[in-house]
Amino acid sequence: MILAVAALLVLSLVILYESCRKTFSHEYPLPPGPKKLPIVGNLFDVPKSGRVWLEYAELSRRYKSDIIHLGALGNSIVILNSARIANELLDKRSSIYSSRPSTVMLGELTGWGSVFAFRPNDDLWKAQRKIMNQAMPIGESQRFHPMLIRVTQDLLRDLPHFDILESLHTWAAVLIMDATYGFNTEEAKAYLPTAKVATESVVIAGTPGAFYVDQFPILKYLPEWFPGAGFKRKAREWSDMRSKMTEEPFRLTKERVAMGTARPSLASDALEQMDHDQDLVKQEEVIKATSVAAYGGGSDTTVTALQSFIWAMLMNPDVQTNAQHELDQVLGVGNLPSFNEEASLPYITAVVRETLRYNPVAPIGVPHKLTEDDIYEGFFLPKGSVIVPNVWSMLYSVEDYPQPHLFNPSRFLDANGNINPKVKNPAASAFGFGRRICPGKSIALASLWIAVASILSCYSIEPELNENGKPNKPQTDSGLTLLNQVPPFKCRFVPRSKEIEVFLGLDSS
Ligand code: HEM
Repeated sequence: MILAVAALLVLSLVILYESCRKTFSHEYPLPPGPKKLPIVGNLFDVPKSGRVWLEYAELSRRYKSDIIHLGALGNSIVILNSARIANELLDKRSSIYSSRPSTVMLGELTGWGSVFAFRPNDDLWKAQRKIMNQAMPIGESQRFHPMLIRVTQDLLRDLPHFDILESLHTWAAVLIMDATYGFNTEEAKAYLPTAKVATESVVIAGTPGAFYVDQFPILKYLPEWFPGAGFKRKAREWSDMRSKMTEEPFRLTKERVAMGTARPSLASDALEQMDHDQDLVKQEEVIKATSVAAYGGGSDTTVTALQSFIWAMLMNPDVQTNAQHELDQVLGVGNLPSFNEEASLPYITAVVRETLRYNPVAPIGVPHKLTEDDIYEGFFLPKGSVIVPNVWSMLYSVEDYPQPHLFNPSRFLDANGNINPKVKNPAASAFGFGRRICPGKSIALASLWIAVASILSCYSIEPELNENGKPNKPQTDSGLTLLNQVPPFKCRFVPRSKEIEVFLGLDSS
């Protein structure tokens, strides 16, 4: 058995050598990048974990180019370190830049490959994306406003009592489960533990380079008991979780649609609109996969963004004071915001933008795949290349955002304190590009805006006190994973008035 595996590995290396030679030779040069070694190419230059976006940005500085090429084991990787290039390729040439690379660990072994976020741009991707766009049209979030306000008020009640992350996970799960399956708060909470493990597994299994089976797909044939094949056991456990997260909420919604008791939602609306002259099982599979994509895509991302906001307020008390001053002037102390006040609260909008910019949730976006050979600014970009938009680099561009390492919402305002349309909105990069742009962008922005405005109108976010009654210094370190989470931290949510305490039921007198 071991000999057979070794022979297969040698054969893969020979095939790889041939494919590298063919893929990378062209009359135009590849974009700049570190020198490639025979066969393995830049295998040792490809950052595999930690803050890979910083290493990609460094390559741009070293090779004086915002477009970088890495080749590893026959794979061509193109890093885009500027918004201009990302817009020119991923937006303007999106017909050939909108596929996804296939992944063995995530797509095949863990089974996420049927879900459109990880599919190539085939008919199944189009069918799922269509359902998602109908349920959550980009640029339109009004239909969700009453639900967002209700769920955010529950968050306000939870914050002083529970761990921050736990409260935020509940908030995100409830709002996404309501929009996707029409579930109420208690039902949504019941799925939290499964969904948490399943979404974490996506981040781990989807980390480029985390599993050798992605570089050597032949390893997927190893039996689970084989030494070193622990990844197969892990993949089976994760696949079971994925299946649970996919099947159970869908089955419940389907039963409710049949009984006529379903609340409007992505899944129930799509089930009701099925074409009964076509294959119903196939249509159900499409709806099921779309629903789990919405849930998976929307939960950890919004949690991470709101967690970053709370952390930023702790680190920048002046910003918090400015935001509360604006809220008090527009709403009066002790009143909660609604979406009607959005246009009158530009500083709050600026805080949301700065949160998305300063600590981007997906600092290297989600990789695209190029489906045709292309030439760009005299460089050859081979068909099949994995395209990595380095969103962090774009949002830390000194030209677009002077002094990018400062958390400064005022950079988005003009001299009159209004949103300055000349300053690039970070949402243009933070939610991805072209035909793959995040379909949850509008609901995500609306949920962040109402949460930021509501939290700041009710609470002052203050450091924890130590045993001597002195404030603990908040940590200053930043994220480590693909989803750019700030490290766990503690803080106090201090009600800003007696009225707020009474309204939120926090008043014990
Ligand atoms: C702060 C919150 C969010 C951020 C920063 C974010 C960011 C992103 C990014 C960067 C992508 C990849 C786009 C590309 O490939 O170019 C993406 C895709 C996606 N997002 Fe979001 N997202 C957020 C919230 C949401 C929400 C609330 C939902 C669901 C309601 C959602 C569902 C999805 C789905 C399904 C995809 C895959 C789209 C496809 O491959 O066609 N996201 N998101």
